[in-house]
Amino acid sequence: MKNIGILGTGQVGQTIGKKLVQLGYNVTLGSRTADNEKAKQWATHTGSTAKTGTFEDAARNADVVFVCTNGAGTLDAIKMAGAENLKGKLVIDLTNPLDFSNGMPPSLLKGLHNTYSLGEAVQDAVPDAKVVKTLNIVNCEVMIDPTKSGGQPTMLLCGNDASAKAEATKLLKDFGWNDILDLGDITASRPMEAYVTLWVRTYMATGNGYNAIKAIR
Ligand SMILES: NC(=O)c1ccc[n+]([C@@H]2O[C@H](COP(=O)([O-])OP(=O)(O)OC[C@H]3O[C@@H](n4cnc5c(N)ncnc54)[C@H](OP(=O)(O)O)[C@@H]3O)[C@@H](O)[C@H]2O)c1
Repeated sequence: MKNIGILGTGQVGQTIGKKLVQLGYNVTLGSRTADNEKAKQWATHTGSTAKTGTFEDAARNADVVFVCTNGAGTLDAIKMAGAENLKGKLVIDLTNPLDFSNGMPPSLLKGLHNTYSLGEAVQDAVPDAKVVKTLNIVNCEVMIDPTKSGGQPTMLLCGNDASAKAEATKLLKDFGWNDILDLGDITASRPMEAYVTLWVRTYMATGNGYNAIKAIR
């Protein structure tokens, strides 16, 4: 059985973590602190293969790591996880560099749009890891059940390593995705993250938090 580390104790980390436990993985939910109350509650309600620890614990014991941290804290979380603990591993980054400091709708964090992105910054922070950007374009309940959108939407992914993208694709299929579009190298994180500003405006216009895209091609 594979061990999966999740960096992040929020709604996304908990939702992805629970789904992975249901799929048969050992999952460690990582936090800035070892005694995070939300993580402990999650483990209690999720099952015996659900564990908790620090970001470092979650990364060290993992074969695959999901990055589910607040966008502004993501690079600090990666640093706390430790480059040596991520070396050679598939790192699935589903974070968004959203800046809510001026309220809704959010903008993208300074320096992380158009010519650079959080996905690239994560890859640059851990050059020996195999970073794949995906799942950031939908609500976390849709991440693990695409039919919740009301259709069969498209999931985008990108990254520099073909074998890592193949491994991420298998996990996406386990989550129920059957229309997956590989956009190329990690620089495609730029449009994938920028798209989320459109996702938010669609949500504000329709009230539908399960909205998703279909790439007709
Ligand atoms: N909500 C969704 O449906 C959705 C959909 C697509 C993408 N996303 C993206 O997924 C990510 C997670 O979202 P979320 O709503 O689940 O959680 P969140 O509240 O954005 O993030 C919670 C996690 O971030 C960590 N964190 C916060 N500030 C930090 C800092 N300064 N340094 C290091 N770590 C820090 C927290 O650590 P502690 O555990 O120590 O508190 C916690 O584990 C975000 O990037 C979001 O944009 C969310």
